[in-house]
Amino acid sequence: MLKGKKIIIGVTGSISAFKIPVLIRLLKKEEAIVKIVMTPAATAFVTPLTLSTLSENPVLVEPFNRDTGEWNSHVELGLWADLFIIAPASANTIAKMANGVADNFLLISYLSAKCPVFFAPAMDLSMYKHPTTQQNIKILQSYGNFLIHPAAGELASGLCGEGRLEEPENILGIIKSFLTTKDEFAGKKVLISAGPTFEAIDPVRFISNYSSGNMGYAIAWEFANRGAKVLLISGPSHLDIQHPNINKTGVVSAREMYDHCIAHFDETDITVMAAAIADYTPVNPEVRKIKKKNKDLKIELKPTVDILETLGKQKKSGQILVGFALETDNELENAKKKLKNKNLDLVVLNSLNDPGAGFQHETNKITIIDRDFNEYPYQLKNKSEVAKDIVDRIKELTDNKQYIKA
Ligand code: CTP
Repeated sequence: MLKGKKIIIGVTGSISAFKIPVLIRLLKKEEAIVKIVMTPAATAFVTPLTLSTLSENPVLVEPFNRDTGEWNSHVELGLWADLFIIAPASANTIAKMANGVADNFLLISYLSAKCPVFFAPAMDLSMYKHPTTQQNIKILQSYGNFLIHPAAGELASGLCGEGRLEEPENILGIIKSFLTTKDEFAGKKVLISAGPTFEAIDPVRFISNYSSGNMGYAIAWEFANRGAKVLLISGPSHLDIQHPNINKTGVVSAREMYDHCIAHFDETDITVMAAAIADYTPVNPEVRKIKKKNKDLKIELKPTVDILETLGKQKKSGQILVGFALETDNELENAKKKLKNKNLDLVVLNSLNDPGAGFQHETNKITIIDRDFNEYPYQLKNKSEVAKDIVDRIKELTDNKQYIKA
């Protein structure tokens, strides 16, 4: 899949550099052409000989060869590559990149690179969390570089937390999805909400539902793979997602979900509300844990704001709004009511009566209904396939400008 793609890996000084030989092997298996640049510090962690043998290319550490005086052209290298990934990216190199410091071959290559640049931080937990590092990461992202989030787990220091270099298999996946991204939705901004919300009863208890986030995450992934810039607003979910076109924001309650959706809705072309947002929230969540008493407990609930309905009222000409309807009775009739009352362009119906559909399944069975009440039923499919069907249907709308009205 990566046949002939030219990739530079920039290796910096970190224990996790031991994962780079595996990454090179994986890229070579995909028939990519790999060149390695290293900071002098990195050579203490993994040898240039290992990396040159595996990449089948000379490893570049210095701007020139001290024996022959021959110059290594960082400019040529920067023009050559389809993608430059700095992995592991140490706190030191990230700080230098953010400030334009150019005191080694890796840094001058970075400054000369004309291709997309990814960086995969690896460092100890406290270094990663330090405001300076976080600020530098933000600076690099603001310049258009793509962050590959470090994983959480055991660190070289013996501590446990965020800061591990992402696994080579996952880095490969990110590179592959980036280099094979289509441009069908290029320039489009998409907002997806996903997952459940948690409504606090007291500091340790909450009201929620069984939503896993699978459906919304699959839609986000599909849009991102087709070139859209996706803002994924997710309620609590065990799912992880890393794609250069996806920016994920985590929220907990319906109120937070509302605030984030409203804040970004104006700038989005397409919005898909796949989240299972709580319809009710406790009137007075307790600040302290509710103690057990030997009598009934009543929790008073009040309705949450219907986000989709609010967005439907704010929708402007050219914006597409898609909602979900999870029904147990009178499915089609109820879904059509939601479509009309919430001013949607499409509603995606899943019925809890269909085995394998709805929450906590890898599969889903949907019917999409459009504004003219045309019904498009689909077979039971894997959620990633269902996401393709939903995005295909939305694509038809974006291609049909007549259809998009406020
Ligand atoms: N939704 C929302 N804000 C809420 C509740 C739901 O934006 N407070 C959205 C969901 O994301 C979904 C759609 O509304 O896209 C329909 O959700 P669903 O739970 O099926 O229906 P409700 O409108 O909540 O009505 P009911 O529970 O009575 O079926």
